[in-house]
Order: sequence, then C-alpha cells, then structure tokens
Amino acid sequence: MRNLISALDLERSEYEELFELADRYIEQLSKKKRLDKLNGKIIALAFFEPSTRTALSFASATLRLGGKVIGFSSEDAISIAKGESLADTIRMLDSYADCIVIRHRYDGSARFASEISGKPIVNAGDGKHEHPTQAILDLYTVRKIFGYVDNLVFGVLGDLRYARVVNSLLRALTRFKPRRVYLISPPQLRARREILDGLNYPYVEISDPRDALSSLDVLYVTRVQRERFPDDLEYRRVRQSYRVDPELVSMMSRDSIVLHPLPRVDEVDREVDKYPQARYFEQASYGVPVRMAVLSRVLGVA
Ligand code: NCD
Repeated sequence: MRNLISALDLERSEYEELFELADRYIEQLSKKKRLDKLNGKIIALAFFEPSTRTALSFASATLRLGGKVIGFSSEDAISIAKGESLADTIRMLDSYADCIVIRHRYDGSARFASEISGKPIVNAGDGKHEHPTQAILDLYTVRKIFGYVDNLVFGVLGDLRYARVVNSLLRALTRFKPRRVYLISPPQLRARREILDGLNYPYVEISDPRDALSSLDVLYVTRVQRERFPDDLEYRRVRQSYRVDPELVSMMSRDSIVLHPLPRVDEVDREVDKYPQARYFEQASYGVPVRMAVLSRVLGVA
C-alpha cells in the first residue's frame, strides 16, 4: 500500500493485517513501550477542513511512533487564503514531509494530491467522497467487540447521500461478508447510485429504523452533513428527520452496538450514552492505534 485514497484500495488481507497491527500497537502502548518506527520521519497534516478526532489522532499516532508532525488545520491559516492553489501547496509539502495526510472539501482532492506528490498520500476525507481511515477504524471496532466482521447485520442510519464515512464503510464491507446491510434514511438522503452499484452483499433501503432495529448487530449513525448541502433550506428540512433515543435503543438486542464517527449533533440523544450498546467513544479511542497501523504501512516500516 503506497497511498490510501479509497476503502477499495485495500484487499481483505490488508484490512486484516492493519487490524492485527493495531492490536499489537495497543498492546505495546499498554506496556508503555517506546516505539520508534517513524523515527526521523515527518508527517504533514494538511487539513483544509475542520477536524478534531482525525487530525489529532493522526498527530498522536505519529508522535507515538517517534515521528514528527507539521501541518495546518484551516485554509485561513495558510497561503490558500492568499490565492495559492491546492497543487502548489501539495508540491511544497512534498518536499517538507515523508507522507501527506490530507482533508479537503473537494471530492477527488486526495487522488489529485497523489498525482502530484511522490510521497504517500492518506485521504483523511475528500468532500462527500471518502474517508477510508474512518472505515478501517469502524470495522476494527466491530471486530474488536464481536471478534469478526462477517455474518453480522449492519444498519447505517442517516445522511447516506453526503456522508463520506458511509461511502467508505459500505465499500470496506465489500471486502467482508455482511449478512445484510440496512440503509436507513429519509428518501432525500439515500445513498448515491455509484456507491450502491459497487456493493456485493445484500442490502435493503428503508426509511424507518424501527423496521430493522431488532435484527441489527451494528447500528452506525451519521450526522446530517450540513456543509455539503447545496442550500440551507434543504438541510433544515431533513435535519431532524431521525434521532436515536432510548426508546429506539431499547428495541435493539442487548448484544448489539451503536457506533457513530462523531461529531454528533442531535442524531443520538445524550441519554443513549448510558446504554451498554453505545460504543462510539470506545470507537473514537481506536483512532490512534488504527492510524499508527496505517502510517507504518504506507511508509513501509511495518
Ligand atoms: C467525519 C468526517 O469528517 O467525515 N468525522 C470524522 O472524521 N470522525 C464525520 C462527520 O463529520 O460527520
């Protein structure tokens, strides 16, 4: 693996290797081992769009492996604000760092960066297109909790039209054998055709989560992606069209789980945090070991 642009860039065996590597890193970190796989390496975090977990977990992952981080977390802070092009910014980072982790509002920006840069590119979210390290982290969480990914019933609830995490998750699942995937959303937020056409497992599109909840192993909830809506009126029309609350969670089995890439707005009631099914904070905590695994793979040191 040289670049990681799409969840489809990885074969099943590569997902499994990343999961095992993340397991090893968790174990080594728990023993307070000093790790030095990225010693002497500089990772550029080129975040043209806001981020909390992704940017900080990539930074933490680099530091935990003995590497160093440079970067920015907003367009306003860099020369893009002065009119510099994305291409010029990437060209410059290419000479400053050994790997570039990029998040940008344009679909395809990570692929574009990989065509310009000779250094490995990791896509940390390109517009409404993909966010592959989130999908690795999501499936890692599932495997950690259930012990496997195959044969589970997934429900993906929310903004299936604009959430890049959904695209990457649905694509990553093509490398496994989910028993069934329920795509649950209001009609305006259905998954896009180009994503659905590539799926190789049984899926059903429904509008009401109640029609699936009792059969789910994993309920994956997403935020309505306000920043991707062409107009705010349309956003306001759908923003409260779904909400996971204690009543819905009590319809799920005791062994099922609720995941969310975070940040959440109103789509998961805070009361749900107390339920045993709520595993989204645990999910976020795996961001560091999973990104340690990704960085060591793209840099060829693991
Ligand atoms: C996601 C993103 O940026 O796409 N956040 C994340 O990386 N955890 C999801 C979102 O913003 O809703």
